[in-house]
Amino acid sequence: MTLKVVAKPNPNPVPNEVRDGYVANPGFGKYFTDHMIVANWSEESGWQDATLQAYGPLSLDPATMVFHYGQEIFEGLKAYKQPDGSISLFRPDANAARFAKSAKRMALPEVPEDFFVECVKELVKADKNWVPGKPGEALYIRPFMIATEVAIGVHASKQASFIIIATPVGAYFDPSKTVSVWISTEYVRAAPGGTGEAKCGGNYAASLVAQKAAAAQGCDQVIWLDAVERKWIEEMGGMNLCFVKGKGKDATIFTPKLTGTLLPGITRNSILNAVSELGFKVEEGMISVDQLKAGLDSGEITEVFACGTAAVISPIGTIKSEMGTWKVGDGGAGEISMQIRKYILDIQHGLASDTHGWNIKVC
Ligand code: PLP
Ligand code: COI
Repeated sequence: MTLKVVAKPNPNPVPNEVRDGYVANPGFGKYFTDHMIVANWSEESGWQDATLQAYGPLSLDPATMVFHYGQEIFEGLKAYKQPDGSISLFRPDANAARFAKSAKRMALPEVPEDFFVECVKELVKADKNWVPGKPGEALYIRPFMIATEVAIGVHASKQASFIIIATPVGAYFDPSKTVSVWISTEYVRAAPGGTGEAKCGGNYAASLVAQKAAAAQGCDQVIWLDAVERKWIEEMGGMNLCFVKGKGKDATIFTPKLTGTLLPGITRNSILNAVSELGFKVEEGMISVDQLKAGLDSGEITEVFACGTAAVISPIGTIKSEMGTWKVGDGGAGEISMQIRKYILDIQHGLASDTHGWNIKVC
């Protein structure tokens, strides 16, 4: 049976002039589009057709399993306005594949990858007037899945809902300054055998106390260390990390390797695949906090940046920990970070040739 998306258009969409106001000045994740996609699954019947329906509240029994045991996964991807006015998704197939992997880890049903992409496309098509167009702006799409069986016994839910919502977005971080980060030595994000590689809500819930500790230090984000030795740098609360070693054309873009406890970022993967086109070398490996400090002190590490769908590429200017506060370069946005940011954004916005076939046209 081929799954389809049944359209039930919103009879009361946001008035055009109000929507255009939101799209002109989107902020990050403040306004939601007119529609959402909902598809339900049960152990007996499998996936049912999805509906494209009016965006609005869900009505769930208080004993619904997701409220108690947190069986939930999500994704984040973006649709970009192209120079000819069309709209493209950036690597939606990669999000579909990661969603399926997350589902497996969290004992949720896998959404067929083609169906995931089709559902995303149908939502973007229906809400195409919500896609902002200025550089760095996009429609952020948030697919997620929740356990919907009504039960208090702890087991893998026999029912689930796959839902997609969307929101116009601009910059995640204030673009007028670099990002500051706090290396957390008190808390860990993910341990071997845990859920670090999955994009599940619980990872983020567990990170919030450390995020609060970072904010108390005047920092924007947390840097997580490995759970075993508490010395290897893994990633940030919601982004992967890259370190620029050296300068100019001889620079190497170094990123912590995927050990099973990091989220395999699609932006990270895109950078690894694309920056050789800019002449840089790439390297995946391990870097400890001591090696980071030594690299910053000696000048070997010239720039550090965060990368992710929401953050795109955000230069990091200050790194703080219980060992002290270290400036990256002069604390400002690094030249190579900004060059890579522009390169990736140009591909996403259709301003540079998409040699990898990453942009998937929607409408
Ligand atoms: N690491 C974490 C913990 C994240 O939440 C994200 C964001 O999705 C990333 C890395 C970057 O992944 P991607 O580039 O696929 O958005
Ligand atoms: C994303 O980049 O899509 C994320 O999920 C991270 C979050 C900080 C918004």
